[in-house]
Amino acid sequence: MQFGYFDDHNREYVITRPDTPLPWINYLGCQAYFGIISNTAGGYSFYRDARLRRITRYRYNNAPFDVGGRYIYVRDDETGDYWSPSWQPTQSGLESYACRHGMGYTTIGAARRGIAASTRYFVPLDENLEIWQFAVTNRRLTPAAVSVFSAVEFCLWDAQDDASNFQRNFSIGEVEMEDGVIYHKTEYRERRDHFAWFACSAETAGFDTQRDVFLGHARGWDRPAAVERGKSFDSVAHGWAPIGSHHVRLVLPPGETRQIIFVLGYHENPPDRKFDPPDSQIVNKETVKPVIAKYLVPENVDGAFGRLRDYWDGLLGICQVATPDIHTDRMVNVWNAYQCMATFNMSRSASFYESGIGRGLGFRDSNQDLLGFVHMIPERARERILDLAATQLPSGGAYHQYQPLTKKGNNDVGSNFNDDPHWLILGVAAYLKETGDWSILAEPAQYDNQPGSEQPLYEHLQRSFQYTLDRLGPHGLPLIGRADWNDCLNLNCFSDTPGQSFQTTTNKDGTVAESIFIGGLFVLAAKELAAIARHSGHAGDAPDYEAAAAKMEETVRRHGWDGEWFLRAYGDFGNKVGSKECAEGKIFIEPQGFCVLAGIGLQDGLARRALDSVRKLLATPHGIVLQQPAYSRYYLHLGEISSYPPGYKENAGIFCHNNPWVMIAEAMAGNGDAAHDYYSRINPSAREGISDVHRCEPYVYAQMIAGRDAPTHGEAKNSWLTGTAAWNYYAITQWILGIRPAYDGLQVAPVIPERWTGFRAVRQFRGVTYRITVRREGPGNRMALAVDGRPVEGDVIPAPSGGRAEVVVEATLA
Ligand code: GLC
Ligand code: GLC
Repeated sequence: MQFGYFDDHNREYVITRPDTPLPWINYLGCQAYFGIISNTAGGYSFYRDARLRRITRYRYNNAPFDVGGRYIYVRDDETGDYWSPSWQPTQSGLESYACRHGMGYTTIGAARRGIAASTRYFVPLDENLEIWQFAVTNRRLTPAAVSVFSAVEFCLWDAQDDASNFQRNFSIGEVEMEDGVIYHKTEYRERRDHFAWFACSAETAGFDTQRDVFLGHARGWDRPAAVERGKSFDSVAHGWAPIGSHHVRLVLPPGETRQIIFVLGYHENPPDRKFDPPDSQIVNKETVKPVIAKYLVPENVDGAFGRLRDYWDGLLGICQVATPDIHTDRMVNVWNAYQCMATFNMSRSASFYESGIGRGLGFRDSNQDLLGFVHMIPERARERILDLAATQLPSGGAYHQYQPLTKKGNNDVGSNFNDDPHWLILGVAAYLKETGDWSILAEPAQYDNQPGSEQPLYEHLQRSFQYTLDRLGPHGLPLIGRADWNDCLNLNCFSDTPGQSFQTTTNKDGTVAESIFIGGLFVLAAKELAAIARHSGHAGDAPDYEAAAAKMEETVRRHGWDGEWFLRAYGDFGNKVGSKECAEGKIFIEPQGFCVLAGIGLQDGLARRALDSVRKLLATPHGIVLQQPAYSRYYLHLGEISSYPPGYKENAGIFCHNNPWVMIAEAMAGNGDAAHDYYSRINPSAREGISDVHRCEPYVYAQMIAGRDAPTHGEAKNSWLTGTAAWNYYAITQWILGIRPAYDGLQVAPVIPERWTGFRAVRQFRGVTYRITVRREGPGNRMALAVDGRPVEGDVIPAPSGGRAEVVVEATLA
């Protein structure tokens, strides 16, 4: 069952009914001012930091799920009938409804009783504000008298404090009204230099700024008293809950459309010019007024929208493909790339499942996210890498998370997640391959943000590498620490007290438990580091890295192979985890994917056997589950993984982040059919037809799909902010379609399904446009390559000579 359709041409997903199984959301903003918006206009806005600069209020885990947002009410002033063109919050019957989620904008519109209304919401580039471009049309044969009310609820900035500190917060709310503009200035009197404002392009008949006056006694957003009676109360908030609501009255002749622009903004004043007059408590509006005036003019709004479209066309234009599979095309060309930008902007902070007050930026998450956006925003990827490196500890270890506002490591979570340092090597490798910007390796970066500790980035990578060699366990495999990629496999925790952190409560000495997954990751990272060294004037270091990789590979074969698949780990008692000897959790996906990705077993058949075991034991029609059999109860010595009911999250859920590892492994093993088959099983577009089962948005990946042990097998959860976005993008573009940035040029090495006749792609790479055509002439992966009509050896296309800006690449597969 579907709730909408893809409008591929306009790069929109069109939702055609408001009762989607879960709110289906979109993001507004891509620089500093951000918003989340659902298909029924729920959500909120913030400036830079979803916790500390929350502009509008939102209550998570509400009933109904999604209340609170950017609301507009339309009222028929003759009959008193009122409704919301976004369906929520009035939930009135509608004659038509459509929500179009596009690239950085959302349009929601509906019609009722001959009146049609729709709103386009977006954040212009380079501005700290959001525009609601509202239009209302009278489709009746008679004139219509209509009232329009806007409504937002302001958050008192610190979203965590806002949701808990009521003894104070009910007394601090303050607003100002001037020329029909509502200014929200809570705490401006003391230490803040910033305020929010809410303006309207039409002449207003009234306003409200106190929530409970606007709504009326014991009422919710579904039937505000002001809207019901057709007249604002002109309330001014003193304490309690400041809101912003304008009231506009219109008389529309038959067939007429009227536009109203509402603008919600955030503004900072110079600290010494906060007030006007200076000795008053009145907000100085000198610098904000020109901004307000500009965006109340329709031509300026249209211009800003055009620039936003161009911006996204530019970003997405860097990699476009045309394959025989529509689901591949729309994910690669539009939605997967778009989601990768969301993970860049948000990391794991603000979605409908991440509350915006929780996690900082993850060290491993951010490095992996890079795989999905480095081609679109290389300069910002560079900055991100250097920020991450500067939080690295002198030991080579990493803070697990850092705070984006301070860019400092987060002490609450600390370090000793022993996989973390290696993701930095892989992140840097991806950056170098994309850009060829070797200068980044010489860039000085601090350790633990300590001034004076600066060393070149290259040295940071060396310490990442050394970190594991300094922490080997009894079998010579890497010690796991608090956890590796799987945050919930906690072999040194043994937590028996409710409320304790599974990751940071450590009561074992950590000298026994080892991770085969980190073994594979280390092999891959060490090989990349060797390649980096050889390309950057450190060739003398490369043999050490290669020798260490070879030795670890040998150790993984000797102590990490279980007979038909790779083991997962050794526990604190030296016990095997992820072995045929285990009663539950016999086989895990992570080492099968990652050891093969590191090249282990590709020559001697181990890789094939591991992947066959995955197919036999872990693959389901909805994707590949994390492990089997699921843990049926809590095991003290395994930790959080066994805390989840079977089939959810790390306990045998389909954790979509790691499915691409198996896709890549299958591609490396030459099996394009299997690789693309796994890709399609979790591709949200390919699952659109089962939206009633999948339930999350059909245009972005979710972190998890419930596994076969769960009663809700096939149901997705936690959409948008997940490493799944980057890894799937990387798997399909670089390994299945095989268009792969390499140190020496663009590599073209497709491993596509046998039934595909070929595909076309346009890829911008290091300033050159590559027009690529792949044609299948036989069933295999043997490739012949011609560049600008001339056959070339191998599969890497070096940069064209003579400053040519375009290259034509033809590949035939046989
Ligand atoms: C979450 C975390 C990620 C971790 C994964 C598996 O997605 O953000 O860091 O690797 O879970 O536990
Ligand atoms: C929980 C989640 C896991 C996530 C971690 C992040 O353990 O189960 O998926 O990676 O929190 O801190």
